Amino acid sequence: MTRSPQSILVTGGAGFIGSAFIRRLFADTAFAGKVVNLDLLTYAGNPENLKGAVDDARYTLVRGDIGDQKLVDGLCEQHGVDAIVNFAAESHVDRSILGPGVFVQTNIVGTYALLEVVRKRPSIHFHHVSTDEVYGSLGPTGLFTEQTAYDPSSPYSASKAASDHLVRAYQRTYGISTTVSNCSNNYGPFHFPEKLIPLVILNLFEGKELPVYGDGLNVRDWLFVDDHAEALWAILTRGQVGQTYNVGGNNEWTNIAIVKKLIELVAELKGKPKSELESSIRYVKDRPGHDRRYAIDSSKLQSELGWSPRHDLESGLAETVRWYADNAAWVNGVRSGAYREWIDQNYAAR
Ligand code: NAD
Ligand code: TYD
Repeated sequence: MTRSPQSILVTGGAGFIGSAFIRRLFADTAFAGKVVNLDLLTYAGNPENLKGAVDDARYTLVRGDIGDQKLVDGLCEQHGVDAIVNFAAESHVDRSILGPGVFVQTNIVGTYALLEVVRKRPSIHFHHVSTDEVYGSLGPTGLFTEQTAYDPSSPYSASKAASDHLVRAYQRTYGISTTVSNCSNNYGPFHFPEKLIPLVILNLFEGKELPVYGDGLNVRDWLFVDDHAEALWAILTRGQVGQTYNVGGNNEWTNIAIVKKLIELVAELKGKPKSELESSIRYVKDRPGHDRRYAIDSSKLQSELGWSPRHDLESGLAETVRWYADNAAWVNGVRSGAYREWIDQNYAAR
C-alpha cells in the first residue's frame, strides 16, 4: 500500500519535531504538494523554526487549537486535506508533573477532536506521532517492541498512551485509515531548551550549573530528529493501515554520559578546559516516577519499510552543539520568552 499525500495538515509543526518534518517535506523534491501547519504557538512553538525553510506558495500557518473541531474541519475542506500528521502535544514530562490538566486537554481531548474530523472525512489518512514512554520503564536488559504492554509512569506518557489507544480504537471501530509511531528521545537543532540536551548545551555556553536528576544513570535511546522525520515520511507514505511502528536510534546512553560528551564537545569548540566545565555538574533531586531505561526495537520499521537511522550519536551531537553555538542568541531569546509578544502580535489565535 502506498499513499502520495498532496495536501498535508501538520499539527504542531512549529515545534521541534514537527518543524523538522516540514523542513524535510520542502527539501524533498519528490513532494510537490502543500502543507497546512496548525499550531497553537504555545511556549514550545515558534513560527521562526521554519523561517527560510518553507516555500511560501505551498505553506500556510494557522494559529489554532487541535481541539477546535470546527476549525480543523474547515481547514480540511478549504485545503482538500488528504493526510494529517499529528505532532501537536504538550511534550515535557516535568511540566506534566507540575500541571497535568493541559496534557489531558491537548494530548487526549485534542487527538479525539482530530479523530472526529477524520471520522467524517474518511478519505484522510491520520498519522499519530507518539513516544516510547507509553511502554513505561525497562530493567537493565530488553527492548520495547510493538507488542510491549503499555505502562506509562508520568501524566505526559499516560496522556500519550490514551491518545494512542483512541487512534487504534477509531481505526478498528470506524474503519478510518490510521498509523501510529512510537519514537525514542529526539535531539537536534530547534529543540526547546528545557529538555536535557539543549539545556545542558546552553548552560555550558553560559557557565551555568548542569542539573542531573538522581544518580544520572537513567538510560535513554537517542535519535537525531531528521532521522525521525525520515521514518515518519516512510510510515506516512508506505505504512500499513492500523499498524504501529517503533522508531529508535540504537543509541543507549546514560544521562551522565550524555552530559560528559556535551562537556567534551563544548570544551573543544570554546577552547575551555574540560575540568572547569565538569565542575558545573550538579546532582539534583530526582524526578518523581522517573523511568529508569528506555530502549527501542525498531526492526519492524527497518525490515518492512527499509528505514534506518543515518546519524550516530557522536556526529549528531557534534552537529547539534555547532548549531546551538551559531544560534545561541536567538535560542536564548526564545528561552527567555522575548519572542512571545512578537508571536502574539503577529499570529492572532482564531
Ligand atoms: P514540542 O513541545 O517541541 O512541540 C509541540 C508543538 O505543538 C508546539 O509547536 C506547540 O505550539 C504545539 N501545540 C501544543 N498544543 C497545541 C494545541 N492544542 N493545538 C495545536 N498545537 C499545539 O514537541 P516535540 O518534541 O516536537 O514533539 C512532537 C510530538 O512528538 C509530540 O506528540 C511528542 O509526544 C512526540 N514525541 C516527542 C519526542 C521527543 O523526544 N521530543 C519523542 C517521541 C515522540
Ligand atoms: P528529557 O529531555 O526531559 O526527556 P524525557 O523525560 O522525555 O526522557 O530528559 C531526558 C533525561 O534527562 C531524563 O532521564 C531526565 C533527565 N534530565 C536531567 O537529568 N536533568 C534535566 O535538567 C532534564 C531536563 C532532564
